Amino acid sequence: MELLFSSQQWLALLPPIILCILLFSYVYIILWLRPERLRQKLRSQGVRGPKPYFLFGNIPEMRRIQQLAKSAHEQEAGSTDMFSSNYVATLFPYFLHWSRVYGSIYLYSTGSIQVLNVTDPNMVKELANCKSLDLGKPCYLQKERGALLGMGILTSNGDLWVHQRKVIAPELFMERVKGMVNLMMEAAMSMLNSWKNEVEDRGGSAEIVVDEFLRTFSADVISRACF
Ligand SMILES: *[C@@H]1O[C@H](CO)[C@@H](O)[C@H](O)[C@H]1NC(C)=O
Repeated sequence: MELLFSSQQWLALLPPIILCILLFSYVYIILWLRPERLRQKLRSQGVRGPKPYFLFGNIPEMRRIQQLAKSAHEQEAGSTDMFSSNYVATLFPYFLHWSRVYGSIYLYSTGSIQVLNVTDPNMVKELANCKSLDLGKPCYLQKERGALLGMGILTSNGDLWVHQRKVIAPELFMERVKGMVNLMMEAAMSMLNSWKNEVEDRGGSAEIVVDEFLRTFSADVISRACF
């Protein structure tokens, strides 16, 4: 058996090796260097956040915090209210944790996507009022979540966004929206009552799948507001 490769065999190995190296550097640049440069820029402006890992960003930490929150929640189950409106604490405990540690503006990563989370009311107001086309929606909203979120005002940029905004703006003047609050409350009350009835019917506790209810709720609000 020939143990040493001949030079010809080495040559044959060269292309796959080079391909592998290229692939790795591509992945490294896209998934680490580029986001790291972005994070560096934000860090230099004083934005802090949990330290990300290669490939997975802060997902491992999200899992860990969620697990901790879940076991804490189970321990105090029974002492809490039956209805809690603080869904962030239950569903996304890591956001609460990070905003406590890093303040109202922080940065986290889900691997390829870097997220700047802003909960400072003044800055959110300023962002919401900004009409500049330079301040766009992140492209992953359309590229990866397009099937879910569509091409509506929440995900679009540029001319498409301008057009949609112009079309809906008159419906959303503050005075008009204020007038809709009661309609929304009425729709919400009737949904909550149907849940209450279901809970009572089942003797004090019931598992309610909210999806269909929320769809009906949206349709209810829209039909009350429009007609
Ligand atoms: C940002 O943080 C808030 C709570 O601090 C949370 O409700 C919200 O879902 C977060 N959004 C994103 C995109 O991280």
